[in-house]
Amino acid sequence: MIRINEHYLKLTASYLFSEIARRVADYAGKNPGKEIVRLGIGDVTLPLPPACIAAFHRAVDDMASVKTFRGYGPEQGYDFLREKIAEFDFRSRGAAVSPDEIFVSDGAKCDTGNFQELFAHDTAIAVPDPVYPVYVDSNVMAGRTGENRGGRYAGLVYLESTEENGFIPGIPRERVDLVYLCFPNNPTGATATKDELARWVDYARENRALILFDAAYESFIRDGALPHSIYEIDGADEVAVEFRSFSKTAGFTGTRCAFTVIPKKCRAYTGGGEPVFLHQLWLRRQTTKFNGVSYPVQRAAEAVYSEEGRRQVRELGDYYLKNASLIRERMSGLGYPCAGGINAPYIWIKTDRDSWSFFDFLLEKAGVVCTPGAGFGPCGEGYIRMSAFNSRENVEKALERIAGALA
Ligand code: MLT
Repeated sequence: MIRINEHYLKLTASYLFSEIARRVADYAGKNPGKEIVRLGIGDVTLPLPPACIAAFHRAVDDMASVKTFRGYGPEQGYDFLREKIAEFDFRSRGAAVSPDEIFVSDGAKCDTGNFQELFAHDTAIAVPDPVYPVYVDSNVMAGRTGENRGGRYAGLVYLESTEENGFIPGIPRERVDLVYLCFPNNPTGATATKDELARWVDYARENRALILFDAAYESFIRDGALPHSIYEIDGADEVAVEFRSFSKTAGFTGTRCAFTVIPKKCRAYTGGGEPVFLHQLWLRRQTTKFNGVSYPVQRAAEAVYSEEGRRQVRELGDYYLKNASLIRERMSGLGYPCAGGINAPYIWIKTDRDSWSFFDFLLEKAGVVCTPGAGFGPCGEGYIRMSAFNSRENVEKALERIAGALA
């Protein structure tokens, strides 16, 4: 008898964004012809930067000639891309990351979801609440939790991010082995200072714990005092793995390119307390289960770091940040307090009713899709998240319609 992994049965019926898509499809079916504006899932709408497109085309032409054709590439990414990442994303900020500590991949979602494979079954895990659902669901699937009760899985430590703590969770009282952090945060848009990250690094060092640091939204940071990488904190290279993505930075959601940084010094331990370097384990995992990102896509990603690429990427970010500021201003003006949306593309909006009711209200009365905060965890109840990744025209249209619906 073929048996299933019964841990899957503990999961909520569908992934948050699938449930939203289902409700939106249902609404669209009942309201044919009614235009819907999507400020829900963080999917970009502007095209790839011209520098990336030009590099992409050139690389496709390389594949057409026997002299320049490439077959299987290195599973961990081509050196041409890893060198640029190390130089521009890390060394230029004083973080000593070397190219061979970078693993190019097809997405931060896949990497943050898969990384837990490296750890023991009884690892004590802390996740933020509200949380990007992938961190939780991937550990549920692996059997590291009990049942879900009231939106929380038994066995996980939830780090509450609330209005009271400025959406920056505090260090847990109990000892945990693995901590997921995300800054700029999805979903709240909160950012962490160097001191705040340093407290987590100290905690991890004292407890021989590991931080999985999701920095997929770092390119939206405009405040010069905020850290872009956890490796800007001394000692983080022994206790933190960092996830990055070209998806939101440069419009690669459909093209797929991301990377994970695993410093050579970063370690976890055997049951007997012997250190094991995570770099070796992840390399072993990736060479077994992953065939790398396609050559043209990596060439397109490399172009992000050219002079014109950096300028174009900055302009893309500025465009979405302007949307974010319009959403903040308008929603606050309508009496809904907003967090995030300054160094982040997400705006976390406090509503006057439960999250799903507000979601349904906006969909039905304004034809606008948001993400209900409760879908990210109990601390998200009473909030919605709006994404700034639509066009200016659509953002303005959505805000007009919302104002009309609330009038
Ligand atoms: C989101 O809307 O939270 C993100 O788009 C999800 C993702 O990047 O996987």
